[in-house]
Amino acid sequence: MKTFPTSAVWCLGILFISVSLITTGSSEVVGPADPVVALAGDDIILPCSLKPNASVKDMAVRWTRLNPTTENVHFYRDGQDSNEDQSPSYRGRTSVFNEELKKGNVSLKLTRVTLSDAGSYRCFIPTLTSQVNQTTVQLLVGAVSQPVISIVGTKGWGVVLKCESGGWFPEPEMEWLDSSRTILPADGPPERHRDSGLYAVRRHVTVDQTDTNNFTCRVHQLEINHLKETEIHVPDDVFPKSQEVMIVGLLAGAVGVLAASIGVYMLIKHMKDDVFPKSQVGLIVGLLIAAVGVIAAGVYMLRKHIEEKKRKKLGKWAVVLL
Ligand SMILES: *[C@@H]1O[C@H](CO)[C@@H](O)[C@H](O)[C@H]1NC(C)=O
Ligand SMILES: *[C@@H]1O[C@H](CO)[C@@H](O)[C@H](O)[C@H]1NC(C)=O
Ligand SMILES: *[C@@H]1O[C@H](CO)[C@@H](O)[C@H](O)[C@H]1NC(C)=O
Ligand SMILES: *[C@@H]1O[C@H](CO)[C@@H](O)[C@H](O)[C@H]1NC(C)=O
Repeated sequence: MKTFPTSAVWCLGILFISVSLITTGSSEVVGPADPVVALAGDDIILPCSLKPNASVKDMAVRWTRLNPTTENVHFYRDGQDSNEDQSPSYRGRTSVFNEELKKGNVSLKLTRVTLSDAGSYRCFIPTLTSQVNQTTVQLLVGAVSQPVISIVGTKGWGVVLKCESGGWFPEPEMEWLDSSRTILPADGPPERHRDSGLYAVRRHVTVDQTDTNNFTCRVHQLEINHLKETEIHVPDDVFPKSQEVMIVGLLAGAVGVLAASIGVYMLIKHMKDDVFPKSQVGLIVGLLIAAVGVIAAGVYMLRKHIEEKKRKKLGKWAVVLL
């Protein structure tokens, strides 16, 4: 008497499992492991399919957004879309791939994605007898824009640069790099503000003259894995005149003053006691001037040699001074 009900339960169980396997009971709804990442304005696909594949042509598929608010996104039933209760914000932007449905692919196409589309989406096949009749897909939506660099002014021997970039979401990181891709210490942390949902960042850096005078501002958003860069070439003559140029100038000036003093002294001496004949005075003054010229030129050549390619400006300056 005891064994009969037990075997009946077994029989029913086996029957149930068989029926389940004959229908699509063994297929499960599968979504992507990673969130779908999009930029505002993109057309995207939210993946969802039956594994193992089986036709969904004659089933119902409901896409809803669960977070941050619940919205009806798309409903497919009896071989056609049935979107009477669709949320207005999704109107005209959703579709399923009709040809793919018979392969068990119920992925949703969403066009012209906006920042407010971000959230978690549920892909649900209510007619599926399997335990796994739904899955969720995360959608991240970002916005990026090109940074803009401007030259603000000078500080010490350096030039102050400003990088600005607005229209980002989520909030990005901003760094300054030199031409060897080394991060430069910025003049303080980035200044950030938020305007109509999007983030704007600004950061200053003071740079010294380098081989290339090329500097890069990099803006990076890790979550949506987007990076934008802008490079600037700062012309040599924007940098304050370097110390070397000033030293050359001072030396040349000092030698010039010395030469002039000697010349004047000799002229006065000549006028007083008429020691030298007039022709010799001319010769001495001429020699002095020549010596001054040679010293100044020597200093100029030496500096030019040391600085060679870096300081093309020095040449111009030394020539002017001489
Ligand atoms: C299911 O997938 C297999 C292998 O990808 C393919 O050969 C088969 O045609 C698919 N079945 C359907 C119903 O699309
Ligand atoms: C489903 O269909 C879409 C659109 O054709 C395609 O991009 C996607 O790769 C398909 N997914 C699978 C799992 O076949
Ligand atoms: C979907 O599966 C869950 C359990 O995974 C179950 O509670 C629910 O009733 C199923 N929905 C339908 C419509 O079968
Ligand atoms: C420096 O920047 C200028 C302009 O952005 C570019 O044309 C040049 O190739 C850069 N030079 C190097 C070495 O990166």
